[in-house]
Amino acid sequence: DPVLRDLAQAKGKYYGTAVTASKLNGTYATIAGSQFDSITPGNEMKWESVEPSRGSYNWSGADAVVNFAQAHDMRVRGHTLVWHSQLPGWLTSGSWTADQLRTLMTDHITTEVGRYKGKISHWDVVNEPFNEDGTFRQSMWYTKLGQSYIADALRAARAADPDAKLYLNDYNTDGTGAKSDAMYNLVKSLKADGVPIDGVGFQGHLILGQVPSTMQANLQRFADLGVDVAVTELDIRMQLPVTDAKLAQQKADYKAVTSACAAVSRCKGVTVWGFTDSDSWIPDVFDGQGAATPYDENYQPKPAYYGIAEALGWS
Ligand code: G3I
Repeated sequence: DPVLRDLAQAKGKYYGTAVTASKLNGTYATIAGSQFDSITPGNEMKWESVEPSRGSYNWSGADAVVNFAQAHDMRVRGHTLVWHSQLPGWLTSGSWTADQLRTLMTDHITTEVGRYKGKISHWDVVNEPFNEDGTFRQSMWYTKLGQSYIADALRAARAADPDAKLYLNDYNTDGTGAKSDAMYNLVKSLKADGVPIDGVGFQGHLILGQVPSTMQANLQRFADLGVDVAVTELDIRMQLPVTDAKLAQQKADYKAVTSACAAVSRCKGVTVWGFTDSDSWIPDVFDGQGAATPYDENYQPKPAYYGIAEALGWS
């Protein structure tokens, strides 16, 4: 079988996967460590995971992913520092002043980025800041701190690890449209203000047969602003049951997304959000849907896997 990480490297890209730290053994670990050269912890670096009660840290899952990456010569995408979801209860239930909340946020960034300084190549500093219509999501960050929370978060991350690439990350921004335009305008204004921003992540949680036709052009317009881009959470879900026709369409879809990245020189790589259907968020959240990843539940490569390889030049 082709080796995705070798094919990607030959094109100057990486190919990554999200993982669940507790599953990193046996066949799961073998595939993760041999096929991919970038790894993203699916949940283990989120605030509720690392600081479940105030001042009491649990780095075990995050450390396990970082150690695995180092043992297998993989880069790590840190995910994620400032998000509206998976926050610890002590944080969301507190009645903080704006100054207190800003300090909690920047201290969190300083602590987590600082712990892994030199070991994490990219950080998703701010995750999912926008609504579908391009207005700012009314998260606790935005409602209490205003838009400036984004610049403050980026500056704190830069100070904590000057070598890590700092990203904003969102979904349904893969093609052009109102939400993507909002991200574009934000990045443009951050750049104009001299705020440290290195890249934009496009999550790529897609539906079978619905890869946006504007995806490559959209990646390119962000690159033309002077930032790197990456597809950070790719999966392509389908209504179950699986059929050969659906798998063929999924292959074409994975190939199209990977080709879009391959065609944009500032697109650094693609990360799949779980490489096996046995480790995917889709069935839990979308009733009757699944089979969204490149390997089936028994770790057999699906047509999608060959679609990725073909987009990276394998034949
Ligand atoms: O850890 C508990 C476990 O103890 C409990 O038995 C089980 C019962 O439901 O839940 C477990 O926690 C789950 C956690 O994943 C770990 O598996 C949560 O319920 C579940 O909500 C959580 O889902 C995660 C989701 O983010 C939360 O929003 C997914 O695994 C994770 O893949 C997903 O990832 C997000 C990205 O961070 C941001 N972009 C969207 C993407 C998909 O939602």
